[in-house]
Amino acid sequence: MIPKLVIANWKMAIDRASVSQFLNEWEASHIPSDVTALIAPPALFLSDIKDITGAALCAQDVSAHELGAHTGEISAQMLSEFNCSHGLVGHSERRLAWNESNALVAAKARRLEASGICPVICVGESKDVRDSGDAESVVAKQVLASAEGLVSAPVIAYEPIWAIGSGEAATPKIADSMHAAIKAALSARFDEPTSVLYGGSVNEANAGDFLACESIDGLLVGGASLKAASFTNICQSVGDRR
Ligand code: PGA
Repeated sequence: MIPKLVIANWKMAIDRASVSQFLNEWEASHIPSDVTALIAPPALFLSDIKDITGAALCAQDVSAHELGAHTGEISAQMLSEFNCSHGLVGHSERRLAWNESNALVAAKARRLEASGICPVICVGESKDVRDSGDAESVVAKQVLASAEGLVSAPVIAYEPIWAIGSGEAATPKIADSMHAAIKAALSARFDEPTSVLYGGSVNEANAGDFLACESIDGLLVGGASLKAASFTNICQSVGDRR
């Protein structure tokens, strides 16, 4: 069985004392063997969690540039030196607040791939698009444009914008159907199958329902990943699907 990928996206929502507390409370042995747990801390804290057992490291973002004169940026090479196995790109918070286009997201994903880091490309529709009934075709186009030029299939994180941080998760049925649409769109582009994660108001109560869906290969968890016990319980809910 391919392990489910469960990523903690700490965003900029945690301080150093809370990172220490997370590490103190983290019990690596409680992560099921059929789950790959990843933690995406603010880049400044990558070195604080580098020795964590039972979880791998994920970047929250990356520069589209190579090493050079780019003040404030963090390159894929640097992330690789800090042992990030995966890197998020195209989170809707960045697409919206920093006007990141699909082309820029694809450029960032290519930088990660070139440094041996698996890109996790975030996509998702707005409430208006969902209500219009076009969500699946809009997201399929976003996925293809954001994966432009990649050699291998990326991981995709489907995060409907209206579900992020709202407490209103998509239903497993909506997510399952969207994941199937995303996989179908990418099957013509890449030989290997694509893993698609669901994100948006995932919590301890609903994680098992998502992980039980055939086309949901894992979860991207924001708010509910900030405490070790809650994130661990979410990882453990993979067992609920059996
Ligand atoms: P949330 O965030 O779980 O707090 O909704 C998810 C994300 O934005 O990755």
